[in-house]
Amino acid sequence: MSDGAHWDRRYARLGPAPAEAVGLPDVFAAHADAFPTTGFALDVACGQGRAALWLAQRGMTVQGLDVSAVAIEHATAAARRRGVADRCTFEVADLDGGLPSGPPADVIVCHLFRDARLDRALIARLAPGGLLAIAALSEVGAAPGRFRVRAGALGDAFAELQVVAAGEGSGTAWLVGRRRGSY
Ligand SMILES: C[S@@+](CC[C@H](N)C(=O)[O-])C[C@H]1O[C@@H](n2cnc3c(N)ncnc32)[C@H](O)[C@@H]1O
Repeated sequence: MSDGAHWDRRYARLGPAPAEAVGLPDVFAAHADAFPTTGFALDVACGQGRAALWLAQRGMTVQGLDVSAVAIEHATAAARRRGVADRCTFEVADLDGGLPSGPPADVIVCHLFRDARLDRALIARLAPGGLLAIAALSEVGAAPGRFRVRAGALGDAFAELQVVAAGEGSGTAWLVGRRRGSY
């Protein structure tokens, strides 16, 4: 089964996200103040748009990408319900084919989707001073598994960013980092 079909089934079973399902993922929540409130944000593998909608509600223009057409439908409907549809674009994209082109991003969120082949493109897409917030399943504090990153993997992958905060444990690794430089 393709990624799209697999995730479509999961999201169809779940149904549209409840109204309260908007917010910065918990792992990044202590660093909410580091996230800008203007400019362009990209939510990679956005699911039902939880983080994207939070960024849009704070004032950013947001693009969300996900392989699941069902998740994208749910995210689009939620943006309309929340009155932020004018600032949100949600698109079906299979990231196995790489990161689609787009404008430099002031924020990129990539929460619980890991594809190391995208790392260079994510860094390159950040505007100078832009923020990457990435989280992945980790082997730290959990049994090794096909979808889990090894200890230190995110720090190695994004070493050229200035780390705002990072951690790993309880099966999750996360990093908030800023691209060096300014406009
Ligand atoms: C664990 S969910 C995380 C969703 C969202 N980031 C969140 O935190 O709520 C993983 C997401 O990755 C998406 N995904 C899986 N494979 C993908 C691919 N090849 N291209 C784009 N999205 C993909 C799924 O559809 C799903 O929405």
